[in-house]
Amino acid sequence: MANNTRREFLKQTTAGTAILFAYPPATVLGANDRVRVGIIGAGNRGQDLVEEVLAVANVEVVAMADVYRGRFAEVQKKVPNIATFDDHRRLLDMKDVDGVIAASPLHTHTRHFLDTLSAGKDLYAEKTMTWSIPEAEQCLNAARKSNRVIQIGLQWESSGAFADAKHWMKNGLAGKVTQVESWMSRNTPHGKGQWVRPVPLDCNPQNVNWNAFLNGRANRPFDGYRLINWRLFWEFSGGNVTENMVHQVAWIMSVLDLPLPSAAYMSGGIFSEQDGREVPDTIVVTLDFPNNLVWTWQSTFSNRHYNLGERILGSDGTIEHGWAGSEMTGGEEGEYVRYYPENVNRPSGTALTGQTKDQNHMANWIECVRSRKTPNAPVELGYKSAVASHMANLSYRRKQRVTLEEVKAVVPEY
Ligand SMILES: NC(=O)c1ccc[n+]([C@@H]2O[C@H](COP(=O)([O-])OP(=O)(O)OC[C@H]3O[C@@H](n4cnc5c(N)ncnc54)[C@H](O)[C@@H]3O)[C@@H](O)[C@H]2O)c1
Repeated sequence: MANNTRREFLKQTTAGTAILFAYPPATVLGANDRVRVGIIGAGNRGQDLVEEVLAVANVEVVAMADVYRGRFAEVQKKVPNIATFDDHRRLLDMKDVDGVIAASPLHTHTRHFLDTLSAGKDLYAEKTMTWSIPEAEQCLNAARKSNRVIQIGLQWESSGAFADAKHWMKNGLAGKVTQVESWMSRNTPHGKGQWVRPVPLDCNPQNVNWNAFLNGRANRPFDGYRLINWRLFWEFSGGNVTENMVHQVAWIMSVLDLPLPSAAYMSGGIFSEQDGREVPDTIVVTLDFPNNLVWTWQSTFSNRHYNLGERILGSDGTIEHGWAGSEMTGGEEGEYVRYYPENVNRPSGTALTGQTKDQNHMANWIECVRSRKTPNAPVELGYKSAVASHMANLSYRRKQRVTLEEVKAVVPEY
């Protein structure tokens, strides 16, 4: 079928006239149709995602939008004929873009999410889904009205370890779970702060659409350090909670089918490198869930011996998931999931090691763009993990325990 005739409106009146909705109705691609993708925010992660999507069969990357024009040449090395824009709205104007990958800084996620849906495109949205809780509500509502296929960049949802842990939980192997512990650790050479990136020489006011980066934040002269190192500042980021905790809390909420947390407490500070950053590098979070379960997460940027992981502590067994670091294991690296029975309640149980193969998270999105099925990391999980993350950060900023009721309408200060 020709490209311009194969896309047809799903929602039609009996008379055959398209109904006017706030969001354009879904288009239909055949199982073998080429999917045309655009990328908004083609920095570190975005360029990895361009490679991932190019590796999926029958996909074309046709356009990119990035406020820093230095990214154009970087992406053109992979996709020579790509259309380039420094304003994401021009990319969204393109009729021949079916789906958009958004890998921009956190404070722009909501704008890119809502504009992509309004333009009638499907979306692969990097985590954390939004910068605040009210924005998460807004995106969830828009998604529910829009009929778009949305995959959140929580790629652990597609891992074999996830499938194994979910299966063990469903079969009752862990029994009653009242506590989950988790941790995430990194280290850097002395004097070099985690995440700090050099500002490229051509990252200057002539080469950057600075207003588009600010995205409504107070106007000020160009600041290349903030553009490149947005992660370090509350105005643009949620620190390590929205960078990494979000993956782990989403995984646990999904494996255990947890609702939103009822309360959060977070302590810590900037203890590793005082390099002008605002977000903490040493963190302990406690989330209370309404069904008698406490989840803890601790994170440091000054030691990576235990790498990262989670332990689901149940009356009948333990599920341990994580990424081995070679220092910890004497060589072994990579993701693992294991089950250990509690002898007191499952005396004849045996230990298990997860064997299920990973799915490709990006290929899962593309497959859903064609089939209109719900992807592995749906918007509801993006929403729940965003709310949990923002509750933790709001507690840290207020230096007190917060409940969901108290903070659900709060826009953070910066
Ligand atoms: N899922 C994962 O494992 C994973 C891993 C790393 C990063 N991420 C996420 O990916 C996102 C990007 O992280 P990164 O490390 O690639 O950051 P980055 O700074 O390297 O890239 C962001 C890019 O967006 C551009 N940009 C800024 N404002 C923009 C705007 N308004 N419109 C268009 N482009 C804009 C920047 O110029 C830059 O090129 C973050 O949300 C991060 O949390 C996810």
